[in-house]
Amino acid sequence: MSRTPEIDVGDYVREIPGQQFLVRTEAYTDEDVFELEMKHIFERTWIYVGHETEFPSAGSFKTAYVGRQPIVVIRDKEGKIGAFFNRCVHRGATLLREHQGTVQEMRCPYHGWIFDLAGRTRLVSERGDPGGYGANFIEPEGLLRVPRLESYRGLLFVSLDADIQPLASYLGELKTVIDAKLDLSPVGRIAIASKPYVCRYRGNWKLQTENIVDAYHFMHTHGAFVKLQAKYGDSTGDFGVHKGRSSREMREQRFRGETWSCRQGHGFARVPAADPGYLLDGEFGRMYRELLDRHGEAAFAGITSKATSTVFPSMGMIHQQIRVWRPISVDETEVLIYPYEIEGAPDAFNAGMLRSQERFYGPSGFGMTDDTEIFARVTQGLRASSVEWLVFDRGMDSDERTESGDYRGLPSSEAPQRALWRAWKKMMQQASKHA
Ligand code: FES
Ligand code: FE
Repeated sequence: MSRTPEIDVGDYVREIPGQQFLVRTEAYTDEDVFELEMKHIFERTWIYVGHETEFPSAGSFKTAYVGRQPIVVIRDKEGKIGAFFNRCVHRGATLLREHQGTVQEMRCPYHGWIFDLAGRTRLVSERGDPGGYGANFIEPEGLLRVPRLESYRGLLFVSLDADIQPLASYLGELKTVIDAKLDLSPVGRIAIASKPYVCRYRGNWKLQTENIVDAYHFMHTHGAFVKLQAKYGDSTGDFGVHKGRSSREMREQRFRGETWSCRQGHGFARVPAADPGYLLDGEFGRMYRELLDRHGEAAFAGITSKATSTVFPSMGMIHQQIRVWRPISVDETEVLIYPYEIEGAPDAFNAGMLRSQERFYGPSGFGMTDDTEIFARVTQGLRASSVEWLVFDRGMDSDERTESGDYRGLPSSEAPQRALWRAWKKMMQQASKHA
């Protein structure tokens, strides 16, 4: 029986424009809210499932989740990538369990039904009978296809909502940020470098969505790392943002950046490269000079800035990795981290970028461990449910409304977090109307 919780979600986000922006504690802790989110946010948005380079040949597959619904994305013999519910049409077992791999066909582990790479049922067993049934067996239709699958520059997203707007318009202004990330490649392409690194944290999924574009926390949560950077310098992979700078200079550099938020709930934060001269005359100067010639000064500044972004609700691009997070329960989240290579860049450049994943952005890097510790502390703090509200309005009046209806703000303005919550409120209010 499905539950229709009695929740006035409209009251969970309270905004007095330019003055106050509050979110109710239960938005992170209430199991009924979580149930509504799975249905009305995850099943009605575009969810990232992989990059085309992860499907090199027929039979290459990845498993993923849309909220809690298991799906499989797979390349067929004609070279087409398809997305299906990862559920046998017989009695429901998931067909594939690994995060990714290559198969000749999809064979159900329960009673052995077989589905080809295009999802069609193929039930003839080795004995020549239809999967152990008699000759009058009625062959079922194949696997159920996920209603929508679209790609933006190789990034694959699915949606369970057949009527959702096209992916490109859903991404909106965020496309320029994705473009900047990919245009760091001399050939405009990235390639996923490895299988995902998987970790979990104790806390609600929205903590990751908020934090990945939270320029405000960096100097505080990662203070110890900042001191190390100031002492030992930084790698090429950080575009010289912190090269040879004191903590104070690094703080000032950070506050030259900006945050930006999108109506759809996406967000972005960036700090410009400290000194383009350092890039153009440095070890990879030739690559950077060619990028500058090809894209022009304004785009070059975007390409070489240190930027992080989120696609609402659960995908982010940070440094040289794609990150996807999956809600397990109201207070547990799984994070998949995919480092990628910049195609066409010198090996030494990719090596430097990948080393900085290990140092800071990877599951055991300084940054990730700092952040997951903070998520656990927030989760613990939210148990003090007598405190009704969380505050998201620091520096709110410094946000600038853009022509497209998005907002830009200072790095500390929390504009991306407010964007997330505005989108959340809109979708959850529609949910209560349908309930
Ligand atoms: Fe898949 Fe029976 S559940 S074959
Ligand atoms: Fe962090």
